Amino acid sequence: MLSEVLLVSAPGKVILHGEHAVVHGKVALAVALNLRTFLRLQPHSNGKVDLSLPNIGIKWAWDVARLQLLDTSFLEQGDATTPTPELVEKLKEVAGLPDDCAVTESLAVLAFLYLYLSICRKQRWTKEDLELINKWAFQGERVIHGNPSGVDNAVSTWGGALRYQQGKISSLKRPPALQILLTNTKVPRNTRTLVAGVRNRLLKFPEIVAPLLTSIDAISLECERVLGEMGEAPAPEQYLVLEELIDMNQHHLNALGVGHASLDQLCQVTRARGLHSKLTGAGGGGCGITLLKPGLEQPEVEATKQALTSCGFDCWETSIGAPGVSIHSATSLDSRVQQALDGL
Ligand code: PMV
Repeated sequence: MLSEVLLVSAPGKVILHGEHAVVHGKVALAVALNLRTFLRLQPHSNGKVDLSLPNIGIKWAWDVARLQLLDTSFLEQGDATTPTPELVEKLKEVAGLPDDCAVTESLAVLAFLYLYLSICRKQRWTKEDLELINKWAFQGERVIHGNPSGVDNAVSTWGGALRYQQGKISSLKRPPALQILLTNTKVPRNTRTLVAGVRNRLLKFPEIVAPLLTSIDAISLECERVLGEMGEAPAPEQYLVLEELIDMNQHHLNALGVGHASLDQLCQVTRARGLHSKLTGAGGGGCGITLLKPGLEQPEVEATKQALTSCGFDCWETSIGAPGVSIHSATSLDSRVQQALDGL
């Protein structure tokens, strides 16, 4: 039972290189961003669990008594358990969402309900707790997109910059504090469908698609090597290499069939200003990243953001390598975050 307000945050993340290829055992590089999602858990005495996800317009409430009637025997094991299709169906019944609720919204609610019913609250997290959070986050990913590689939950849990391959994670030593633009094209996409599309293309054209995946693997490794060499004083030539890697990977991802006209537009708009972009994550719309070189004047960054916003995109300037999932005390929160939470 929650006795006081608990504030938790997790970083946003992007995959620098290796999306899709990582599903087929190749290396991915993923970084946590200094753009965080905050969660405020607040005790209530009205016998309800209220869920508010303001960014996607979800406000929902459940009777605790009703939730307690749910068969939660699967939750009694200490470790993260896989959400079976039967369990997800049961959660759908309990969630009581309207039939016309959009898929993304309903999956977000189901993932919440699943994790809410499964996880005990703790005030301080040990390494073992973080490992458990990572496992649960992976199961939440399974609710959302079926067969995830595990890279997303890993980087959100551990933060920093990670190399990920087949469940094996290593942190990049002293990654440079790269500045990027994260742009949301706002074109909805379904990760599950896109991952399945790449698999089908690989089965249909193995001799063509397998070398693309191998090449993406080599791009991730080359990026890792360059980031490792950049240290605290990156040289302009190193940025040029990072830009070339971005361009090559973006073309490969298009060849895998996960591009989108909105992402092409993003790349063109930034290219016209001498900046290099690629999609990040599943593609098919969704988000892209743009590398900001040092020495770029702030008015030029603002003009690029403005140009992207004029395309109907949302755009944030941020840096890579943020801390992973964290617990906060109310007094340590940035006042803007505090205000936003108070306004919910
Ligand atoms: O767009 P996201 O955050 O769902 O990222 C998907 C990344 C993939 O490599 C396409 C899938 C995965 O599970 O790694």
